[in-house]
Amino acid sequence: MEIFYEIKPLKKRLETLRKQGKKIGFVATMGALHDGHASLVEASNRDNDITVVSVFVNPTQFNNPDDLAKYPRDLQSDVKVLEENEADILFAPSVPEMYPTEDTRQFELGSVAEVMEGKYRPGHFNGVCQVVSKLFSIIEPDNAYFGQKDYQQIAVIREMVRRYMPDFKGKIVSCPIKREADGLALSSRNLLLSPEQRTSALLISRTLFKAKEMSDGGATQSELTNFIKKSIATDANLCLEYVEIADRDTLQPITADRPVNAVICITVYDGKVRLIDNILL
Ligand code: PAJ
Repeated sequence: MEIFYEIKPLKKRLETLRKQGKKIGFVATMGALHDGHASLVEASNRDNDITVVSVFVNPTQFNNPDDLAKYPRDLQSDVKVLEENEADILFAPSVPEMYPTEDTRQFELGSVAEVMEGKYRPGHFNGVCQVVSKLFSIIEPDNAYFGQKDYQQIAVIREMVRRYMPDFKGKIVSCPIKREADGLALSSRNLLLSPEQRTSALLISRTLFKAKEMSDGGATQSELTNFIKKSIATDANLCLEYVEIADRDTLQPITADRPVNAVICITVYDGKVRLIDNILL
């Protein structure tokens, strides 16, 4: 695997590859790589000749300084995961390389960015758009892979491209959530959980699976949200931040009694660790 820390040599290398007719796939990450990230690399390897992975803990998307400070970082272990999964190029820039001057751009993204994570993490999606737009301009991928683990993030990035990068030719590919054998959605933040909190975390996916079962059996929206709230409240380590049953495409709350074409998005604090998950109905 080739490793680049700077933009210029990476761009030069990609230009050569493009001239050779190579199709380029891109996976953006913040490192602490796990099988969820690996599944995106695998999808990219399947569709492209070259897979570029970025590892960059983007400071502008953290609305909580403590969260940024605690975010797990281990480039050596990331290199190992990427080599095992046959990524071709790693881009691991420093903060000044990505932001030589302050990025003051404000992305207006309308309603998809205003609900859920947009509401509870003000500024978060603006930071995501700042970094992803820069990465897209540097790498100019044919395909870019994102996980449904961050369901709303995909919708926001699609909207950002539509509004602000009309010349971007890359396709945004959405990939399924990878889970532990017991159901917990893989996340870099799982590394921050104590063994006891790890056990508590399991209730999040279990609750979502049960809610889907209830929805398949005809439960109404209010029955589902009541069930989810009660279920999460049974574990003293867990504190529900929000649960929302939203339209899969617009991400706006469903108004109909029975959710169709919907996604349940949930955010729960497990101790101080903020975990998100979702399930399609
Ligand atoms: P990060 O949390 O590192 O996630 C990188 C990519 O991996 C995202 O597209 C995310 O949805 C996907 N991913 C994470 N856990 C997953 C899982 N269990 N199954 C499938 N995919 C999973 O998301 C970010 O970084 C950042 O916001 C980023 C897009 C890199 C911009 O900084």
